Amino acid sequence: MIDGFGRSIDYLRISVTDRCNLRCVYCMPPEGVEWMDHEEMLSYEEIIRLCSLFAQVGIRKVRLTGGEPLARRDLPELVRGIHAIDGIESIALTTNGLLLQEQLPALLEAGLTAVNLSLDTLDRAQYAAITRRDALDQALSGLYAALDAPGLRVKLNCVPMGENDAQLVPLADLAREHDLAVRYIELMPIGLGGSLPRRTEEEVRAMLEAAFGPMTPCDESLGAGPGHYFTIPGFCGKIGFISAMTHQFCDGCNRVRLTATGFLKTCLQYETGRDLRTLLRDGSGDEVLLEAIRSAILHKPAQHHFLDATGRREDERHNMHQIGG
Ligand code: GTP
Ligand code: 5AD
Ligand code: SF4
Repeated sequence: MIDGFGRSIDYLRISVTDRCNLRCVYCMPPEGVEWMDHEEMLSYEEIIRLCSLFAQVGIRKVRLTGGEPLARRDLPELVRGIHAIDGIESIALTTNGLLLQEQLPALLEAGLTAVNLSLDTLDRAQYAAITRRDALDQALSGLYAALDAPGLRVKLNCVPMGENDAQLVPLADLAREHDLAVRYIELMPIGLGGSLPRRTEEEVRAMLEAAFGPMTPCDESLGAGPGHYFTIPGFCGKIGFISAMTHQFCDGCNRVRLTATGFLKTCLQYETGRDLRTLLRDGSGDEVLLEAIRSAILHKPAQHHFLDATGRREDERHNMHQIGG
């Protein structure tokens, strides 16, 4: 489907839960948060019904996010259900990796095609400080399980915050031996992300080039996301950047989001969208739901205004664990 600004929308990010087994500083407050009730969350049957309607309006790629999606029971069942829908070509997962090693065989068997794993540091004490849990070894076992899975596309997401400066080069070094895209994400002022120090793409690139020499832009898009990529001579994998702050990519935006409560969110930065759960639960037929989806996509906002954060009424006020990134 084409939105009101001529963009083709074929990518749906589905947050399956707001729960998480970590408490990353840019995502959750130290005291924790109150989780949503189970009845508030869409059931897998409801998600699968919506997904087949989204496929009818042109969605081809689905990404499962959270909170931590693997914290929701029986996620492979959902993957299997989405995989069976006509028109859905790929199903990816964004995870912190802690539960990945044990669940990966079932996820692959169910049809998972790609994994993005969040990892901001390889230093155990720093990992515990950033995520508020001493779980680096578990995250790494998830990463290595993913890298060992034949045919699975794997990316690593790192948010540079100043405190992990010394870790940016060691993280990039993982792409030397592994067919992995190591990506640096500019911290966005969503939820707690607004109050932390950030590094820009240019700053990170300078640190990497000082260590590895010049990086060359690469035409490959590596998936359907907003990342752009570079190669380093002698590296098997790629280096990527997702730079919403300094290299706005809204012109090419191809995605919408479905929250765990069934809200169709049409841009990361705004609360704008449509509550599909009420329609699902009041017995609305497929045509009514399809019309709601089409009309929300048609009204997808043109762009974010992160650099001009003036507290507009429609700005997103949820934290990232309720949106899924
Ligand atoms: P790929 O298809 O693998 O490239 O996926 P992706 O980069 O879209 O997914 P991932 O869940 O790994 O997200 C990486 C980062 O990109 C997260 O910080 C997201 O919040 C951010 N991101 C994803 N989509 C958007 C978007 O539409 N706008 C902005 N500003 N950021 C986004
Ligand atoms: N800005 C940028 N990225 C963020 N993430 C979480 N919060 C923010 C933020 N404010 C990242 C996580 C994860 C991905 C889904 O989003 O590190 O990799
Ligand atoms: Fe959990 Fe992801 Fe939020 Fe970290 S960023 S607390 S891993 S949902």
